[in-house]
Amino acid sequence: MSVLVRVPAKVNLVLGVGPRRDDGFHELATVYQAVDLYDEIRATARDDDRVTVRTQVEADGTGERTDVPDDERNLAVRAALALRAYADQPLGVDLAVRKSIPVAGGMAGGSADAAGALVACNALWGLGLTREQLEPLAADLGSDVPFLLHGGHVIGAGRGEQLTPVLAPTASYHWVIVTADDGLSTPDVYAEFDRVNVGRAVPDPRVPDELIAALRAGDPFDLALCLSNDLQEPALRLRPELRRTLEAGERAGALVGVISGSGPTVLLLCANAERATEVASVLAATDDYADVLQARGPVPGARVVG
Ligand code: C5P
Repeated sequence: MSVLVRVPAKVNLVLGVGPRRDDGFHELATVYQAVDLYDEIRATARDDDRVTVRTQVEADGTGERTDVPDDERNLAVRAALALRAYADQPLGVDLAVRKSIPVAGGMAGGSADAAGALVACNALWGLGLTREQLEPLAADLGSDVPFLLHGGHVIGAGRGEQLTPVLAPTASYHWVIVTADDGLSTPDVYAEFDRVNVGRAVPDPRVPDELIAALRAGDPFDLALCLSNDLQEPALRLRPELRRTLEAGERAGALVGVISGSGPTVLLLCANAERATEVASVLAATDDYADVLQARGPVPGARVVG
Protein backbone atom coordinates (compact mmCIF):
# COMPACT_ATOMS: atom_id res chain seq x y z
CA MET A 1 0.00 0.00 0.00
CA SER A 2 1.46 3.38 -0.97
CA VAL A 3 0.51 7.03 -1.52
CA LEU A 4 2.16 9.52 -3.91
CA VAL A 5 2.17 13.25 -3.09
CA ARG A 6 3.36 16.12 -5.25
CA VAL A 7 4.48 19.32 -3.56
CA PRO A 8 5.51 22.61 -5.19
CA ALA A 9 8.44 24.97 -4.61
CA LYS A 10 7.85 28.48 -3.29
CA VAL A 11 9.04 31.88 -4.37
CA ASN A 12 8.74 35.02 -2.25
CA LEU A 13 7.38 37.93 -4.31
CA VAL A 14 8.34 40.21 -1.45
CA LEU A 15 10.44 39.13 1.52
CA GLY A 16 10.50 41.87 4.13
CA VAL A 17 12.72 40.96 7.07
CA GLY A 18 12.38 42.71 10.43
CA PRO A 19 14.48 42.64 13.57
CA ARG A 20 15.80 39.42 15.07
CA ARG A 21 13.40 38.20 17.75
CA ASP A 22 14.31 36.76 21.13
CA ASP A 23 13.70 33.22 19.80
CA GLY A 24 16.36 33.77 17.09
CA PHE A 25 13.85 34.03 14.22
CA HIS A 26 13.17 37.23 12.29
CA GLU A 27 9.77 38.83 11.93
CA LEU A 28 8.74 38.53 8.26
CA ALA A 29 6.23 40.17 5.93
CA THR A 30 6.19 38.06 2.79
CA VAL A 31 3.98 37.08 -0.13
CA TYR A 32 4.50 33.48 -1.13
CA GLN A 33 3.71 32.06 -4.56
CA ALA A 34 3.76 28.28 -5.15
CA VAL A 35 5.35 27.38 -8.52
CA ASP A 36 5.15 24.23 -10.60
CA LEU A 37 8.55 22.82 -9.77
CA TYR A 38 7.68 19.72 -7.75
CA ASP A 39 9.18 17.22 -5.36
CA GLU A 40 7.38 13.88 -5.21
CA ILE A 41 7.08 11.89 -2.01
CA ARG A 42 5.98 8.27 -2.11
CA ALA A 43 4.99 6.85 1.28
CA THR A 44 4.83 3.05 1.50
CA ALA A 45 3.39 1.22 4.51
CA ARG A 46 5.65 -0.91 6.74
CA ASP A 47 4.49 -3.57 9.10
CA ASP A 48 6.81 -2.32 11.85
CA ASP A 49 7.17 1.16 13.35
CA ARG A 50 10.36 2.26 11.52
CA VAL A 51 10.52 5.46 9.48
CA THR A 52 13.02 5.44 6.59
CA VAL A 53 13.80 7.81 3.71
CA ARG A 54 15.58 7.58 0.36
CA THR A 55 16.20 10.73 -1.70
CA GLN A 56 16.82 10.87 -5.42
CA VAL A 57 17.64 14.12 -7.19
CA GLU A 58 16.19 14.46 -10.69
CA ALA A 59 19.15 16.38 -12.10
CA ASP A 60 21.53 13.68 -10.84
CA GLY A 61 19.89 10.85 -12.83
CA THR A 62 19.45 7.70 -10.80
CA GLY A 63 22.11 8.39 -8.17
CA GLU A 64 21.01 8.66 -4.57
CA ARG A 65 21.74 11.97 -2.95
CA THR A 66 24.40 11.71 -0.27
CA ASP A 67 24.25 15.30 1.05
CA VAL A 68 20.55 15.03 1.99
CA PRO A 69 20.52 13.28 5.40
CA ASP A 70 18.58 10.01 5.76
CA ASP A 71 18.12 10.23 9.53
CA GLU A 72 16.15 12.52 11.85
CA ARG A 73 17.87 15.60 10.37
CA ASN A 74 15.79 14.92 7.23
CA LEU A 75 12.65 17.07 7.36
CA ALA A 76 10.50 14.39 5.71
CA VAL A 77 11.48 11.93 8.45
CA ARG A 78 10.81 14.54 11.12
CA ALA A 79 7.37 15.20 9.61
CA ALA A 80 6.46 11.50 9.69
CA LEU A 81 7.68 11.20 13.31
CA ALA A 82 5.72 14.32 14.35
CA LEU A 83 2.53 12.99 12.77
CA ARG A 84 3.05 9.57 14.36
CA ALA A 85 3.54 11.20 17.78
CA TYR A 86 0.33 13.22 17.24
CA ALA A 87 -1.58 10.06 16.26
CA ASP A 88 0.00 8.21 19.19
CA GLN A 89 0.10 4.90 17.28
CA PRO A 90 3.07 2.61 16.43
CA LEU A 91 3.06 3.47 12.70
CA GLY A 92 5.92 2.96 10.20
CA VAL A 93 6.64 4.21 6.69
CA ASP A 94 9.23 4.08 3.91
CA LEU A 95 9.52 7.50 2.27
CA ALA A 96 10.97 7.85 -1.23
CA VAL A 97 11.63 11.47 -2.21
CA ARG A 98 12.24 12.49 -5.83
CA LYS A 99 13.60 16.02 -5.85
CA SER A 100 13.25 18.56 -8.63
CA ILE A 101 13.34 21.56 -6.27
CA PRO A 102 16.97 22.75 -5.85
CA VAL A 103 18.62 21.53 -2.63
CA ALA A 104 19.56 24.45 -0.28
CA GLY A 105 18.47 26.83 -3.05
CA GLY A 106 16.10 29.22 -1.26
CA MET A 107 12.97 27.62 -2.76
CA ALA A 108 11.91 25.66 0.35
CA GLY A 109 12.99 22.27 -1.00
CA GLY A 110 13.47 20.75 2.47
CA SER A 111 10.21 22.28 3.70
CA ALA A 112 8.42 20.88 0.64
CA ASP A 113 9.50 17.38 1.62
CA ALA A 114 8.17 17.95 5.16
CA ALA A 115 4.81 19.19 3.82
CA GLY A 116 4.69 16.28 1.35
CA ALA A 117 5.48 13.70 4.04
CA LEU A 118 2.74 15.11 6.32
CA VAL A 119 0.13 14.86 3.56
CA ALA A 120 1.36 11.43 2.38
CA CYS A 121 1.48 9.84 5.86
CA ASN A 122 -1.88 11.37 6.82
CA ALA A 123 -3.42 9.59 3.81
CA LEU A 124 -1.38 6.36 4.10
CA TRP A 125 -2.16 5.92 7.80
CA GLY A 126 -5.82 6.87 7.30
CA LEU A 127 -5.64 9.55 10.00
CA GLY A 128 -8.04 11.95 8.26
CA LEU A 129 -6.51 15.17 9.64
CA THR A 130 -7.64 18.35 7.89
CA ARG A 131 -5.19 20.93 6.55
CA GLU A 132 -6.06 23.14 9.54
CA GLN A 133 -5.10 20.29 11.87
CA LEU A 134 -1.84 19.64 10.00
CA GLU A 135 -0.82 23.33 10.05
CA PRO A 136 0.50 23.52 13.65
CA LEU A 137 2.61 20.37 13.07
CA ALA A 138 3.84 21.97 9.84
CA ALA A 139 4.80 25.22 11.61
CA ASP A 140 6.90 23.28 14.15
CA LEU A 141 8.82 21.67 11.27
CA GLY A 142 9.78 24.96 9.56
CA SER A 143 8.58 28.47 8.77
CA ASP A 144 7.66 27.70 5.12
CA VAL A 145 5.99 24.33 5.70
CA PRO A 146 2.43 25.61 6.42
CA PHE A 147 2.47 27.58 3.16
CA LEU A 148 3.43 24.48 1.16
CA LEU A 149 0.32 22.70 2.45
CA HIS A 150 -1.69 25.67 1.20
CA GLY A 151 -0.13 26.81 -2.12
CA GLY A 152 -1.41 29.64 -4.32
CA HIS A 153 -0.63 33.22 -3.27
CA VAL A 154 -0.48 33.75 0.48
CA ILE A 155 0.73 36.54 2.77
CA GLY A 156 3.05 35.19 5.48
CA ALA A 157 3.59 36.98 8.81
CA GLY A 158 5.26 36.05 12.10
CA ARG A 159 8.29 33.94 11.12
CA GLY A 160 6.43 33.08 7.88
CA GLU A 161 3.99 30.57 9.35
CA GLN A 162 0.98 32.88 9.91
CA LEU A 163 -0.95 32.76 6.65
CA THR A 164 -3.56 34.96 4.97
CA PRO A 165 -4.55 33.96 1.41
CA VAL A 166 -4.44 36.72 -1.23
CA LEU A 167 -7.67 36.94 -3.18
CA ALA A 168 -6.53 37.54 -6.75
CA PRO A 169 -7.74 36.37 -10.16
CA THR A 170 -6.02 33.31 -11.56
CA ALA A 171 -3.36 34.96 -13.71
CA SER A 172 -0.21 32.90 -14.33
CA TYR A 173 3.29 34.27 -13.90
CA HIS A 174 6.28 32.89 -15.80
CA TRP A 175 9.69 32.44 -14.25
CA VAL A 176 13.13 31.37 -15.35
CA ILE A 177 14.96 29.81 -12.43
CA VAL A 178 18.76 29.68 -12.41
CA THR A 179 20.28 27.32 -9.88
CA ALA A 180 23.80 27.23 -8.45
CA ASP A 181 26.00 24.20 -7.74
CA ASP A 182 26.60 25.07 -4.09
CA GLY A 183 23.63 25.86 -1.84
CA LEU A 184 23.53 28.60 0.79
CA SER A 185 22.62 27.92 4.42
CA THR A 186 19.50 29.86 5.44
CA PRO A 187 20.81 30.60 8.98
CA ASP A 188 24.10 31.91 7.46
CA VAL A 189 22.17 34.36 5.24
CA TYR A 190 20.04 35.60 8.15
CA ALA A 191 23.26 36.00 10.20
CA GLU A 192 24.70 38.10 7.35
CA PHE A 193 21.48 40.16 7.38
CA ASP A 194 22.13 40.83 11.09
CA ARG A 195 25.74 41.83 10.33
CA VAL A 196 24.66 44.21 7.53
CA ASN A 197 22.16 45.83 9.89
CA VAL A 198 24.25 45.96 13.04
CA GLY A 199 23.78 49.30 14.81
CA ARG A 200 20.72 50.17 12.66
CA ALA A 201 17.11 50.14 13.78
CA VAL A 202 15.52 47.55 11.45
CA PRO A 203 11.92 48.65 10.80
CA ASP A 204 8.98 46.26 11.11
CA PRO A 205 8.45 44.72 7.68
CA ARG A 206 5.27 45.22 5.69
CA VAL A 207 3.82 43.96 2.42
CA PRO A 208 3.54 46.92 -0.01
CA ASP A 209 -0.01 47.72 -1.15
CA GLU A 210 1.31 48.04 -4.72
CA LEU A 211 2.26 44.37 -4.75
CA ILE A 212 -1.23 43.23 -3.75
CA ALA A 213 -2.67 45.65 -6.35
CA ALA A 214 -0.37 44.15 -9.02
CA LEU A 215 -1.58 40.63 -8.16
CA ARG A 216 -5.21 41.78 -8.26
CA ALA A 217 -4.55 43.33 -11.70
CA GLY A 218 -2.80 40.10 -12.79
CA ASP A 219 -0.11 42.19 -14.51
CA PRO A 220 3.48 40.84 -14.65
CA PHE A 221 4.85 44.30 -15.60
CA ASP A 222 3.34 45.85 -12.44
CA LEU A 223 4.49 42.87 -10.39
CA ALA A 224 8.05 43.22 -11.72
CA LEU A 225 8.22 46.74 -10.23
CA CYS A 226 7.27 45.41 -6.77
CA LEU A 227 9.47 42.32 -6.35
CA SER A 228 11.87 42.75 -3.43
CA ASN A 229 13.89 40.66 -1.04
CA ASP A 230 15.62 41.93 2.10
CA LEU A 231 17.84 38.81 2.05
CA GLN A 232 19.18 39.72 -1.41
CA GLU A 233 22.01 42.01 -0.21
CA PRO A 234 23.19 39.53 2.45
CA ALA A 235 23.05 36.66 -0.08
CA LEU A 236 25.00 38.75 -2.62
CA ARG A 237 27.63 39.57 0.02
CA LEU A 238 28.12 35.82 0.47
CA ARG A 239 27.97 35.10 -3.30
CA PRO A 240 28.95 38.28 -5.23
CA GLU A 241 28.99 36.36 -8.53
CA LEU A 242 25.16 36.09 -8.42
CA ARG A 243 24.99 39.76 -9.37
CA ARG A 244 26.22 38.74 -12.84
CA THR A 245 23.45 36.13 -13.10
CA LEU A 246 20.81 38.75 -12.26
CA GLU A 247 22.26 41.10 -14.89
CA ALA A 248 22.52 38.36 -17.52
CA GLY A 249 18.87 37.42 -16.97
CA GLU A 250 17.68 40.99 -17.39
CA ARG A 251 19.90 41.44 -20.49
CA ALA A 252 18.39 38.27 -21.96
CA GLY A 253 14.91 39.82 -21.71
CA ALA A 254 13.50 39.10 -18.23
CA LEU A 255 11.43 41.90 -16.68
CA VAL A 256 13.46 41.72 -13.48
CA GLY A 257 15.71 39.38 -11.53
CA VAL A 258 15.67 38.72 -7.79
CA ILE A 259 17.34 36.27 -5.44
CA SER A 260 14.95 33.54 -4.27
CA GLY A 261 14.52 33.57 -0.48
CA SER A 262 17.92 33.08 1.12
CA GLY A 263 19.47 32.14 -2.25
CA PRO A 264 21.51 31.22 -4.16
CA THR A 265 18.80 30.48 -6.77
CA VAL A 266 18.06 33.44 -9.07
CA LEU A 267 14.45 34.11 -10.16
CA LEU A 268 13.75 35.92 -13.42
CA LEU A 269 10.20 37.14 -13.92
CA CYS A 270 9.23 37.17 -17.60
CA ALA A 271 6.36 38.87 -19.44
CA ASN A 272 4.90 35.60 -20.76
CA ALA A 273 5.69 31.94 -21.45
CA GLU A 274 7.33 32.62 -24.85
CA ARG A 275 9.68 35.22 -23.38
CA ALA A 276 10.57 32.84 -20.54
CA THR A 277 11.52 30.16 -23.09
CA GLU A 278 13.73 32.67 -24.93
CA VAL A 279 15.44 33.86 -21.74
CA ALA A 280 16.00 30.27 -20.59
CA SER A 281 17.56 29.27 -23.90
CA VAL A 282 19.92 32.28 -23.95
CA LEU A 283 21.13 31.48 -20.41
CA ALA A 284 21.32 27.70 -20.93
CA ALA A 285 23.48 28.23 -24.04
CA THR A 286 26.27 29.80 -21.95
CA ASP A 287 26.97 26.74 -19.76
CA ASP A 288 27.61 29.20 -16.90
CA TYR A 289 24.91 27.85 -14.59
CA ALA A 290 24.17 24.59 -12.78
CA ASP A 291 20.66 24.44 -14.24
CA VAL A 292 18.24 26.77 -16.02
CA LEU A 293 14.58 25.84 -15.37
CA GLN A 294 11.21 27.31 -16.22
CA ALA A 295 8.28 27.48 -13.84
CA ARG A 296 4.80 28.92 -13.63
CA GLY A 297 2.79 30.01 -10.63
CA PRO A 298 0.61 30.05 -8.68
CA VAL A 299 -0.25 26.36 -8.26
CA PRO A 300 -1.90 24.47 -5.36
CA GLY A 301 0.08 23.12 -2.39
CA ALA A 302 0.91 19.51 -1.46
CA ARG A 303 -1.66 17.10 -2.93
CA VAL A 304 -2.14 13.33 -3.17
CA VAL A 305 -1.75 12.38 -6.85
CA GLY A 306 -1.71 8.60 -6.68
O1 C5P B 1 11.99 27.86 9.98
P1 C5P B 1 13.18 27.28 9.32
O2 C5P B 1 13.64 26.00 9.99
O3 C5P B 1 13.03 27.11 7.85
O4 C5P B 1 14.35 28.33 9.52
C1 C5P B 1 15.70 28.02 9.28
C2 C5P B 1 16.57 29.10 9.88
O5 C5P B 1 16.38 30.33 9.17
C3 C5P B 1 16.25 29.43 11.31
O6 C5P B 1 16.97 28.59 12.20
C4 C5P B 1 16.74 30.88 11.42
O7 C5P B 1 18.14 30.92 11.55
C5 C5P B 1 16.39 31.43 10.06
N1 C5P B 1 15.09 32.11 10.03
C6 C5P B 1 14.93 33.34 10.66
N2 C5P B 1 13.72 33.97 10.62
C7 C5P B 1 12.67 33.42 9.98
C8 C5P B 1 12.80 32.17 9.32
C9 C5P B 1 14.03 31.55 9.37
O8 C5P B 1 15.89 33.87 11.24
N3 C5P B 1 11.52 34.08 9.96
